[in-house]
Order: sequence, then C-alpha cells, then structure tokens
Amino acid sequence: MSGKSQAVLTAESYYDSAPADAFDRAVWGGDDIHVGMYASPGEDIARASRRTVVTMADKLQTIGPGSRVIDLGAGFGGSARYLAGRFGCHVTCLNLSETQNAFNRELTAKAGMNGKIDVVHGSFEDLDDPDDSYDIVWSQDSFLHSGERLKVIGEIDRVLKPGGELIFTDPMQADDCPDGVLDHILRRIHLQTFGSVAFYRHEFTRRGFDVVALDETPMNLRTHYNRVREVLIERREEITRLSGADYVNGMIDGLKHWVDGADKGYLNWGILHFRKG
Ligand SMILES: C[S@@+](CC[C@H](N)C(=O)[O-])C[C@H]1O[C@@H](n2cnc3c(N)ncnc32)[C@H](O)[C@@H]1O
Repeated sequence: MSGKSQAVLTAESYYDSAPADAFDRAVWGGDDIHVGMYASPGEDIARASRRTVVTMADKLQTIGPGSRVIDLGAGFGGSARYLAGRFGCHVTCLNLSETQNAFNRELTAKAGMNGKIDVVHGSFEDLDDPDDSYDIVWSQDSFLHSGERLKVIGEIDRVLKPGGELIFTDPMQADDCPDGVLDHILRRIHLQTFGSVAFYRHEFTRRGFDVVALDETPMNLRTHYNRVREVLIERREEITRLSGADYVNGMIDGLKHWVDGADKGYLNWGILHFRKG
C-alpha cells in the first residue's frame, strides 16, 4: 500500500482503536458492522444486520463454488464467512484495520474456513491485485470512508473481470441533498463528501457497467442508527466500561445527527448492484 490519503489514515486509526473495536463487537455481536434491514424498528441489531448480508447474497446471479470474491472493507469478515459457507466460493477480505483483521483471522480459523478466506491488509483506494482478478466485488458501508471515491471506482473496474458483478451498500447523501447541510456529520468523520446513488450510477455506467438494480431504502439507515443509539443508551454503563465515557457520549450525540439527517431526507442508503460489461 503506497502513500495513504488523510481519509485512509483517519479510518485506519479509528477502526484500529480499542474503544471503536470494543463498541463494534459489543453492539453488533462480532460478525457484522453495517446498516441492518429491519423487520420491525425494535429488532435485534445482529439479526437485522445479518438480513442485509442474506438479502445481498440472494441478489447475486453468477456466484458459485468456483467464484473469487473480494470484500472491500471487510470488517470482522462475517459476510465472507457467510458467502464462503453458503456458496463454497473463495473470499479475499481486504481491510485497512489490522485490529479487525486479527479478529477476522481468529473467527475464520475457528470456523475452519482458512482455505476459503484470505484476510489482507490494504486500502481499496490502491489494491495490489492484478487486473481481472475477481468474479464478484462486494462491499458494505465502507466507501463512505474514502476521500478519493473515483480511485476506488477505478480499482473496482480494474480488478473485476468482464461480466463480473459488483454489489455494495453505502451510507450516502440523497441525490437532491442541499449543499452544506451534512457538513457537521462529515466533519465528525473527517471527510469532505458523501457518495450518492446518482454519483455511483453515473461513474459506473460511464465505465460500461450495467445497472442490475439500485434498491434505495434510506429508512433502514434511519432505523439502524436510531436502534444503535437506543442500545447504547440502554447499555450505557457496560459500553462505557469497554469504550470510555468520551467515546460513548460522542457516539450518542453523533448518531442523533445521522437520525436527524435521515428524517430530513438528506441521507440515503441502499443495495447497489451492477454488472461489468
Ligand atoms: C462500517 S465498517 C463495515 C465493515 C464490514 N464491511 C461489515 O459490513 O461488517 C467500515 C469498514 O471499512 C474499512 N475501511 C475504511 N476505509 C478503508 C480503506 N480505505 N480500505 C480498506 N478498508 C477500509 C474499515 O476498516 C471497516 O472495516
């Protein structure tokens, strides 16, 4: 990985930090760290988060035992273990945080999946893989951390084989979001911009990708951040012991901004699915 951008350094030090790691494991249960798809607003976070993985996997048209998949920003590797277990495919977990990667390797070994899953330290802005390495590019709620999304899109295009599928989720701004209204959220995560469905559609179709489906469900983002905030308040003492009061107070405050942004229609989330031409 050559010269990391400021956004990459920020994401790396955040996800490597003990408070964030403890919080993510405690709130999501240790497999997933992404927006859930909720059957009801009070549903268990881990169950709703797993539904997102299953829903995405159900959409894949070409995956099978011979497929090579890369998960960009793979977190604890829960999706990789699900995909390898369900389809028998090989999954490369590319992820910036070595704290998460160590936990992923431990869980993957425990699941007896070492032969099916590789855990690689790296940034999706600058992949080491040769061109046309993968049949499927998968990612969940990770591209928001990039300060250079055009580079990420270029890397996806480069490593995905012709005919391959790209499926990802991302917390985004709404296509008609007014300028400046999300600046306070962006400042907290040290970024200048969010992606949007219009941005991703434009950039991927410009490169010859076909849209398979763009399923926008911003309500899941609203429900999810609200649910995480509720759980944090319910389990405040326990999570404060794990992550510290400053982290917990900052998170309770920050999540409120996400919920308010979603209520105002400024934020978006969904499953975006493309096929490379
Ligand atoms: C919200 S977590 C999602 C983790 C995982 N995709 C999941 O759904 O459980 C965001 C992830 O993006 C990773 N990440 C952020 N910036 C990255 C980059 N430039 N390259 C690789 N991974 C990155 C973080 O390490 C973290 O694992």
